[in-house]
Amino acid sequence: MASVAGSGSFSELEFTDADFKSVRDLVRKNTGISLSEAKRDMVYSRLVRRLRELNLQRFSDYLALVCSDGADDELIQFTNAITTNLTSFFREGHHFEYLAETVLPELMRQNADVRKIRIWCCAASTGEEPYSIAMVVKEVIPKNSGWDVKILATDLDTNVLATAEKGIYPVDRIKDIPAHRQRRFFLKGGGKQQGHVRIRPELQQIITYKKLNLMDQWPLSGPIDIIFCRNVVIYFTKDTQKVLLERFTKLVAPGAHLFMGHSESLNNVTDKFQLLGRTIYRFAE
Ligand SMILES: C[S@@+](CC[C@H](N)C(=O)[O-])C[C@H]1O[C@@H](n2cnc3c(N)ncnc32)[C@H](O)[C@@H]1O
Repeated sequence: MASVAGSGSFSELEFTDADFKSVRDLVRKNTGISLSEAKRDMVYSRLVRRLRELNLQRFSDYLALVCSDGADDELIQFTNAITTNLTSFFREGHHFEYLAETVLPELMRQNADVRKIRIWCCAASTGEEPYSIAMVVKEVIPKNSGWDVKILATDLDTNVLATAEKGIYPVDRIKDIPAHRQRRFFLKGGGKQQGHVRIRPELQQIITYKKLNLMDQWPLSGPIDIIFCRNVVIYFTKDTQKVLLERFTKLVAPGAHLFMGHSESLNNVTDKFQLLGRTIYRFAE
């Protein structure tokens, strides 16, 4: 049935059931994201902008373009439009307390011979999450102590990664960060950058940003000591989650920690990660 999407407002373009189905199939195939019927209006409003930019009148024409040979750039734009990138500094603050008080001190004992810690933040969005991790790392691990700590921050969406890599944010994004952390880790912008803050290089130096689709090959080698995989598997089906979690097991160090999002659970997904509490898991094969 043909419908006009965008309840309460008139939309100019027709978005049929067949169009929505094609979008859902394509998104599922390329990203693992499973879009429910309830996401129909959201999908419409995010994609219609792109149709307008391209002067296209029909979703079917747009989808044909996205799927055509050599349209890799459009597929990237399509994917970027679909992803939900909500994030914030120190989101789910108890995870960062646990990282500071338990996980990092334990790793400093456990990895004392190699003096190396590897962290993967696999749905990094605009960077607030990896920078929050990096701040904790800098606070816990003494400067010049010879520890080699690296954070790999990846995401599928190239737009959010570009923001993350820049490390520049409107000042209100850090309003809930305590003043001592603001002073230590952020530089205030002046002139054209008034109203913005910039992450200090000492944090950027320990983070590598890379585009990585969790559904594709992962060009990374383990062992990884900590994985932050928060607020992303919620968009995947249980089957996809199972495959993903099994792949994590091949990459992590014995006893590695896994942080999941507040509404995510590994019940009926895997028993190789043991729940420690409050969506913090430990690899226990
Ligand atoms: C809601 S944000 C969560 C950001 C951050 N982890 C947090 O909890 O604040 C979800 C992120 O997952 C990314 N994402 C979705 N599907 C992905 C996939 N298949 N591979 C990699 N990243 C994906 C999106 O681009 C988005 O930036």
